[in-house]
Amino acid sequence: MKVDIVTIFPEMCLGPLNESIMKRAQEAGKVSIAAHDLRDWTTDKHRKVDDIPYGGGQGMVMKPEPFFAAVRDLKRDSPNARVILMTPQGKRFDQATARGLSHEEHLIILCGHYEGVDHRVVEALVDLELSIGDYVLTNGAIAATVVVDAVVRLLPGVLGDERSPEEESFADPETTGYPPLLEGPHYTRPPEFEGMTVPEVLLSGHHGNISDWRHEQAIERTRANRPDLLDS
Ligand code: ADE
Repeated sequence: MKVDIVTIFPEMCLGPLNESIMKRAQEAGKVSIAAHDLRDWTTDKHRKVDDIPYGGGQGMVMKPEPFFAAVRDLKRDSPNARVILMTPQGKRFDQATARGLSHEEHLIILCGHYEGVDHRVVEALVDLELSIGDYVLTNGAIAATVVVDAVVRLLPGVLGDERSPEEESFADPETTGYPPLLEGPHYTRPPEFEGMTVPEVLLSGHHGNISDWRHEQAIERTRANRPDLLDS
């Protein structure tokens, strides 16, 4: 997979994406990730990417021209690349969307800033507007980084053989046969710590009972923290 992020803060993405599993995924050739400075596609002396909003109102709006030039260049060798805009007005990003995007060959992720992006960018260039949650960040670079991390870890071979996305929170209902659940609690050694013990069943070595217990715990935790998932 190839990922191009377009932002005025490329460094905000590059730090997190060059650590740990994301770093290894790139080194192993599973993905190539580039973060580009939108200002490289400006043509004026001041490298201006924003302007005042038509109709008045607070804040600045990101100009269309640099985004159009960036997408034209980045699509040159792959006209079918999926273009995503990170914005709090987007569709809520979730594990199902991450799974869908993990099958794409090339993602181009545009990051907004200020009050928003000129709507002609959305109309003409963008396939999918994504929000990472119901809150407003200062810009889309961190949100893009979140999306890339969630998608890249699903690429075959990235997590290694011992980790399976089917056994974690938000597992695919098509695979598991039940709604996406939150994972239940985990324990490691020691068996007793400050008077708190590990549930007996986990020490029993009985795989069937352990699996049943984990499923019950997952349902209980989902009911407590995310009842909406049980209705989906
Ligand atoms: N930019 C600012 N806030 C955002 C959010 N919640 N999701 C995606 N992009 C954003």
